[in-house]
Amino acid sequence: MILITGASGTVGRAVLVEVAGSGETHRAMYRSQEEAAKAPAGTEAVVADFSDRESLMLALRGVESVYLVCSPMPELVQLEGNAIEASEAAGVRRIVLNSALGAEDYGKSFPSWHRRVEDRLKGTKIAHCILRPNSFLQNLLTYYAPSIRAQGAFYGAMGNARTSFVDVRDIAAVAANALRSSQHDGKTYELNGLEALTCADVAERISRYAGIAARYVDIPAEAQRKAMMDQGMPEWQVTALLELQEYYTGGRGGALDGMLQGLLGRPPITIDRFLKEFAGEFRGHAASA
Ligand SMILES: NC(=O)c1ccc[n+]([C@@H]2O[C@H](COP(=O)([O-])OP(=O)(O)OC[C@H]3O[C@@H](n4cnc5c(N)ncnc54)[C@H](OP(=O)(O)O)[C@@H]3O)[C@@H](O)[C@H]2O)c1
Repeated sequence: MILITGASGTVGRAVLVEVAGSGETHRAMYRSQEEAAKAPAGTEAVVADFSDRESLMLALRGVESVYLVCSPMPELVQLEGNAIEASEAAGVRRIVLNSALGAEDYGKSFPSWHRRVEDRLKGTKIAHCILRPNSFLQNLLTYYAPSIRAQGAFYGAMGNARTSFVDVRDIAAVAANALRSSQHDGKTYELNGLEALTCADVAERISRYAGIAARYVDIPAEAQRKAMMDQGMPEWQVTALLELQEYYTGGRGGALDGMLQGLLGRPPITIDRFLKEFAGEFRGHAASA
């Protein structure tokens, strides 16, 4: 039995699709009945919370492998730690942990929180595989598409920094394999895409596939901070996002290493394929004017 946590989230949902498609016996964990009701046919759904040990122990009954993921927030250290502790108590054999690029050596922001969980997991006897993905292609929909639709532009202080974006469906394929086989136990994989792109490159690709004139506008980091604060984003999140951006502007987000392709046994999903699929998400009044 495989337990997929975070089944309502961006990457967890993709892992669920992948595991369900493989025919493995599985259970998907949600935080509310409302979300659990969205579980696909053939999936056993359970409602539990990382902060509620009793619910976790019920979710973990009979489970051999756990896909562990939580929202990007400082509390993930404690919350995923709770899940690891409960997994030990429940006799789980394997955990596949969703970490992040930078967890190896970046002592700030999201990667540093993930690193603490990695270290916690390594301190157990549970077999584990750690996935450290680069930035998700799905971020283009979450973070760039709204302002492209409204204003024909997206903003940042990335300069010419490069990102090797990965599609969460590829992360999910790797996770599903690691969940059902001992082949990946003890391994840590950094997952990068096929191309290292600047934000200007991304704007050009979006423009090409959506048939619009999307621009990337580079702004000072302080102006970006103010814009995010003005939108009502919590200060910890603004700081974490800016610190993560520094990881990329420091030149560490553009690795091209073939690791993901090797794990998949096929080329990863390209930004071109992704944009062909989601081109409509970038079209809006200003963008198409
Ligand atoms: N975005 C990127 O480019 C990127 C790159 C590398 C690594 N990552 C890492 O990938 C991870 C997942 O990202 P994502 O975009 O998939 O996040 P997400 O969409 O926010 O999904 C997180 C999942 O965790 C669940 N969750 C949150 N708090 C929980 C709790 N107390 N108990 C049980 N479940 C809880 C959420 O449930 P609800 O839906 O109920 O809130 C949701 O299903 C993050 O840790 C992030 O740092 C992201």
